[in-house]
Amino acid sequence: MTAIRSSNVDSSNEILDSETFDGVVHAIKNAGDALFTWDYKRSREGLIKLYEKAKTSQWNASTDLPWETEVDVDKLAKDLAASVERFNQLRDVDRSPLGSWKEKEWQHFTGEMQAWSLSQFLHGEQGALICTGLITTTVPWIDAKYYAATQVMDEARHVEVFARYLEEKLKNRYEINPQLGSLLDEIIEDSRWDITYLGMQIMVEGLALAAFGFMHMLVNEPLLKRLLRYVMSDEARHVAFGVLSLKEFYSGLNSKEIRERQEFAYEAALRLKNRFFAQDVWERLGVEPKKILEFLKNNPDPGEEMFQSMLFSKIVPNCRKLGLLDAGDGWLRVKFEEIGIIQYEHFIDTSEEYALLDAVSPPS
Ligand SMILES: [Fe+2]
Ligand SMILES: [Fe+2]
Repeated sequence: MTAIRSSNVDSSNEILDSETFDGVVHAIKNAGDALFTWDYKRSREGLIKLYEKAKTSQWNASTDLPWETEVDVDKLAKDLAASVERFNQLRDVDRSPLGSWKEKEWQHFTGEMQAWSLSQFLHGEQGALICTGLITTTVPWIDAKYYAATQVMDEARHVEVFARYLEEKLKNRYEINPQLGSLLDEIIEDSRWDITYLGMQIMVEGLALAAFGFMHMLVNEPLLKRLLRYVMSDEARHVAFGVLSLKEFYSGLNSKEIRERQEFAYEAALRLKNRFFAQDVWERLGVEPKKILEFLKNNPDPGEEMFQSMLFSKIVPNCRKLGLLDAGDGWLRVKFEEIGIIQYEHFIDTSEEYALLDAVSPPS
């Protein structure tokens, strides 16, 4: 299967409904082969270097972060007011469905959006943990198995820190956004090992790296700021792992196979773009989400467009580095132009940037 389904989880996909497990466990069938390799020779210089970097850049979530920090949730919400500026058009325009909201409601909204965003980071991190476990099994190269094993540990740490922050500091959590959830399901169930990489390492983690950077820039709360900075150090390596591995693999694919990857990347980008609507936040605040969606559609905000496109500033140069933008007749370039994200193609690609982003063991 190449294209990503546009609908949410369906029964034909053999995805077990979460009710099967009382809503706690969600199961997905993965059809990939588990591969042994008897070729233990170290031959991929880029991956060898990355693996060595990963070994010296480990950090301990329990002892390296200032968990004793008292977090003032209202102050944190104020730090992040800029991240919801794009909703300002809901404040002032005539017939706004939120015309009656006062400062108190807006602050509450900002705090909820913060919890929602961190919850999506948390669930995405678990997706990354599962995908990397899969990659250690399905990738045929020993250097990639070694590296992926370090990433499994990184992702466990990321799930740990976001879960702890939400539970101890915000005392709040949201469920996974359906768009993100179905994208993760699609990535995990695909039997081709490189699709796990493309979906997770390039698309989901590329977006996460930009989103973490954006939140890190806005936040002054010291625990969250440090947590995000450490997670970013790891994430940059993870995206670089995807770029280095796929660059080699894609050079051996035929044009039909490359087109399938281009289509996958485009549909994943669409899904990631659509994940921004936080339906459950509006519901929790007693606002009809449909009304908000309709209003936003009729009152488009250029600031919102810019914010959303910025989150693709890591994905697009990495797709370019992989040769996906211009392969064939440049199909993906045209598609990225259509959704307004092509302007990032010449930004630094993450296979170059990861050493600069390392806050734990920076280059000497
Ligand atoms: Fe992660
Ligand atoms: Fe990651």
